[in-house]
Amino acid sequence: MKGLWLNIMQALGQKNARPKAPIYNEQDREGLRRAGAFNAQLMDFIRPFVKAGVTTLELDRKAYEYTLDHGHTPACLGYKGYPNTICTSVNEVVCHGIPNSIPLREGDIVNVDLTTIVDGWHGDSSETFLIEPVAEDARNLVQAAFDAMHVGIDAVNPGGKLMEIGRAIDRFARRHGYSVVQEYQGHGLGREFHQEPGVPHYVPKINPSQLILEPGMCFTIEPMINVGTWRTMLDKKDKWTVRTMDLSLSAQFEHTILVTETGPELLTVTEHGPKPGHQF
Ligand code: MF3
Ligand code: CO
Ligand code: CO
Repeated sequence: MKGLWLNIMQALGQKNARPKAPIYNEQDREGLRRAGAFNAQLMDFIRPFVKAGVTTLELDRKAYEYTLDHGHTPACLGYKGYPNTICTSVNEVVCHGIPNSIPLREGDIVNVDLTTIVDGWHGDSSETFLIEPVAEDARNLVQAAFDAMHVGIDAVNPGGKLMEIGRAIDRFARRHGYSVVQEYQGHGLGREFHQEPGVPHYVPKINPSQLILEPGMCFTIEPMINVGTWRTMLDKKDKWTVRTMDLSLSAQFEHTILVTETGPELLTVTEHGPKPGHQF
């Protein structure tokens, strides 16, 4: 009986086991900081070009050349067969939009998601840009997505639970009448692009992560916030573009976060982008 019980417990333990999230030492952290800083620099480089009339393919080309000119590597290009350097997600596109030759138009909102590899370390961040003038519903959504990301970042505490990030984001979004995408999450990153820990932006009902945040963990927080349903659909043809199921608007922001002894350190802070408290 005892043996059987032990077997059951072991099986359960295995089912619930997650691979460990890496803990980075000071030397690793310096690598991560350099990668995050370059990614932010790339975002600032791209920023002035994100205007009505530009095509997302032109933005992609600029990001590609800037990355190579600085001796670094675009992480998305060729990743699981992804065809481009950046992801550009316009309006109802939730994430992983493939750059194309359609010019951005006034009233669009576009998420530009950049990931680079610097000396083997990854940096990953995104912003949603308003192609002014935009309607109030779009502006309010972008504001909520930005604020939701910061509410999530503020929930990062060494010794606290990873789950608190998703709890804070989901509560904030619901309070403002929005929904939170569940199928795509934040992720650990380091020498790999996507690794442990997964960072849901809500609290999963089944088997939520009990992970305790420790100094030296590194991951992204990148909530995708929708006006309508949280449900998404994958483009049948390109197998990358993710849209909201009801084609309602979606917005997203992303930072790479290092957990330190004193709290979250944002590795992808830009010089010219929105800061906490920013009004769009
Ligand atoms: N940068 C995205 C993220 O935040 C991932 C893009 S993967 C790609 O995780 F292959 F679509 F580029
Ligand atoms: Co990203
Ligand atoms: Co990411």
